[in-house]
Amino acid sequence: MDSDSISILTSKAPTKREEELPDSTDALLSSSDAPQKSSTKSVLFISLVLSTCVALSAAIAIAFLFFSSSSSSNSESINEVARPLTKLKHPVVLLISSDGFRFGYQFKTYTPNINRLIKNGTEAESGLIPVFPTLTFPNHYSIVTGLYPAYHGIINNYFTDPETNEVFTMASHEPKWWLGEPLWETVVNHGLKASTYFWPGSEVHKGSWNCPKDYCMFYNSSVPFEERVDTVLKYFDLSSSDIPSFMTLYFEDPDHQGHQVGPDDPLITEAVANIDEMIGKLIRGLEERGVFEDVTVIMVGDHGMVGTCDKKLIFLDDLTSWIEIPTEWVQYYTPLLAICPPSGYSPKDVVAKMNEGLKSGKVDNGQYLSVYLKEELPSRLHYAASDRIPPIIGLVQEGYKVEQKRSTRQECGGAHGYDNAFFSMRTIFIAHGPQFARGRKVPSFENVQIYNLVTTILNIQGAANNGTASFPQSILLPSH
Ligand SMILES: *[C@@H]1O[C@H](CO)[C@@H](O)[C@H](O)[C@H]1NC(C)=O
Ligand SMILES: *[C@@H]1O[C@H](CO)[C@@H](O)[C@H](O)[C@H]1NC(C)=O
Ligand SMILES: *[C@@H]1O[C@H](CO)[C@@H](O)[C@H](O)[C@H]1NC(C)=O
Ligand SMILES: [Zn+2]
Repeated sequence: MDSDSISILTSKAPTKREEELPDSTDALLSSSDAPQKSSTKSVLFISLVLSTCVALSAAIAIAFLFFSSSSSSNSESINEVARPLTKLKHPVVLLISSDGFRFGYQFKTYTPNINRLIKNGTEAESGLIPVFPTLTFPNHYSIVTGLYPAYHGIINNYFTDPETNEVFTMASHEPKWWLGEPLWETVVNHGLKASTYFWPGSEVHKGSWNCPKDYCMFYNSSVPFEERVDTVLKYFDLSSSDIPSFMTLYFEDPDHQGHQVGPDDPLITEAVANIDEMIGKLIRGLEERGVFEDVTVIMVGDHGMVGTCDKKLIFLDDLTSWIEIPTEWVQYYTPLLAICPPSGYSPKDVVAKMNEGLKSGKVDNGQYLSVYLKEELPSRLHYAASDRIPPIIGLVQEGYKVEQKRSTRQECGGAHGYDNAFFSMRTIFIAHGPQFARGRKVPSFENVQIYNLVTTILNIQGAANNGTASFPQSILLPSH
């Protein structure tokens, strides 16, 4: 992940250097007095001047290289400041999620509308990094709380509370599951309005957010995308004080197609083109209302997608010679294996036996699954500090899946949920609005940074979270 820092050098930087270097060299040479006499003294003088010039120009070149690489990635927008609102009376952030929009999908086809946002906005050059596990509910809720799943409580799309044995599903709206403070709650706590056209957690009543009718849509996957966009646009027809300061808009695609056919099928190209059309419809609607340049549009996804096929499988039943893992112990199979053995079994012992089997060379694809006590997972995953996380977690290599037993089912498709270090799990971050530089590329970052970004744009104080306090300043334009 650290290798992303190389992306701070945009393709523009070398061009700039090439232009600048001959110029400064020329200027230095012409400023040295042209020698008149051909004496040894003057030859010596000339060579001295020349070598000084060479040394000087080299020093300047080095200084320039240093300066251009240590300064912001976009030399052209160094003097740019945030643009004032022209029509809206207060800042508005519209957060759009296109589920499973893997980073790179934007190059699959002609996407003129998304390109408008990119060209005149700020983009994470190598994509947005999801949190682990790279699943829909944990990530959407990290985006709006700034918290890693261990701290916001939605540690999976499906899990069991170890205290009460109650089961969380994607349809659970009881507040007790949803920890942290999502953006809509922060926004209404400050006396501002928020609206949600779908987002995991948005239906949940928390603090002063009670999912108000007309401003908070209950999840219904059958609502056509066009209708969602039209409803969001209608909020801009309200009187100024009623226009929500923060809005969400959610599309299930291209995740839906990605699971069925994997990331490289023409169906994905079609779904991406359709999402682009929705962005086009939105931009046109905002332009018709004269507010496109005033609204901050942040387009993200929750995670990427990788192709899976029936050859890349690991079966828990193959471990029987080392340890039997009954289905009742398994809370989640794949790509994140989550196991909770009953009391009386030592999780440490279970992990040791499973890994012994997996590494024996006698289990098909065993080398592609590693099993951990959650406390021993790599700390960069931040996946331990919650009782809701089962004691045993298995990580599979990219594209692999875990199943209980062999079946005759043959299938190829797509999956996500893997280690967030895999590039295939990355998604997009594209932001367009008054506080974002036009045409700027920034290094990749984790989605827990978005909470502070939104509260900074809205100029409100956010709740404590796992984002970096200085992050917003690093990607937003200064106010003057
Ligand atoms: C970018 O913004 C400028 C200034 O508002 C505008 O003239 C131009 O058409 C925009 N470009 C795109 C691709 O939308
Ligand atoms: C979901 O949306 C569809 C399409 O708009 C509508 O026909 C249906 O009644 C909605 N379902 C619920 C439960 O509101
Ligand atoms: C994440 O944020 C929560 C809430 O502020 C805090 O308790 C926790 O220690 C943070 N964790 C990390 C890894 O920063
Ligand atoms: Zn998803």
